[in-house]
Amino acid sequence: FEPWRDAADDHGITVGFALSPGHLSDPGYRAIAEREFSLVVAENAMKWDATEPTRGSFSFGQADQVAAFATANDADLYGHTLVWHSQLPGWVESLTAPADLRDAMYDHIDAVAGRYAGDVVAWDVVNELWNDDGTRRPSVFQRVLGDGYVADALRRARQADPSAKLCLNDYNTDGVNAKSTAMYDLVVSLKAQGAPIDCVGFQSHLIVGQVPSTYRQNLQRFADLGVDVRITELDIRTTVPASASALAQQARDYRTVVEACLAVARCDGVTVWGIDDGHSWVPGVFSGQGAALPWDAQYQAKPAYTAVAEAL
Ligand code: XIL
Repeated sequence: FEPWRDAADDHGITVGFALSPGHLSDPGYRAIAEREFSLVVAENAMKWDATEPTRGSFSFGQADQVAAFATANDADLYGHTLVWHSQLPGWVESLTAPADLRDAMYDHIDAVAGRYAGDVVAWDVVNELWNDDGTRRPSVFQRVLGDGYVADALRRARQADPSAKLCLNDYNTDGVNAKSTAMYDLVVSLKAQGAPIDCVGFQSHLIVGQVPSTYRQNLQRFADLGVDVRITELDIRTTVPASASALAQQARDYRTVVEACLAVARCDGVTVWGIDDGHSWVPGVFSGQGAALPWDAQYQAKPAYTAVAEAL
């Protein structure tokens, strides 16, 4: 097969991966990273705890490595993420005065989005703002600032980097359900207010055999609102060790996801959340689960790799 990125290019989409720059010293990892992908997102390096661990003190070492890899590899750089309840330093968590938290949020957006302004194609401005039932997640931002923090963050990000598309990103919003409908209604409301919202990301941390039946329909309904959509963190996990039949089903599931993106004109592309099963976040978080990525821990291509290559 030709590299994924070349096949994707013919469709006008990009294929991305989440990069942890420390892994680049591994030649097997690096070779796949350089060959296959036309977009790079930092797996952790651009998050708040990495970039502003103490107030007003910014550290961009790892984030700059991710940006440099994108440039060297002629790949797009995708920003992840500015405002999120997780991987958030304790000092932010403990702010209780609205004016103070808003200042901290604005300073963070100015510094991080500002540093990469002009280099980033899109930012996940707010990540995971919903509970699964479609109510607001009670993050410190929600509790202290109220619903309006999302529009405020978007507006600030637009000022900090006028050329980046601005996205909201979440998980379990991949099919039509209460959570994705809350996201949908928010996009409608943001557009009505004139807040800058350009795109919605669908993380798609999926389970083998359980791609939602409404996956494509869900992408399409957002596209029909006039926002771009992207599969932002794709992995498809199963019980480990994975059986041959699970890996075959996983390949069909990867294909279903890629085909859904190809079928939706405003789908910008697909990003996988890592490269190989040896470096995936899944086993550390979902006990007994893994084998979620297209390459195994020895960097051998799995059936999922072939299925994506064939779909593209
Ligand atoms: C994960 C990373 O993959 C892990 O290395 C880290 O320990 C925790 O975060 N949703 C997101 C991503 O938006 O940032 C998360 O990444 C996975 C879930």
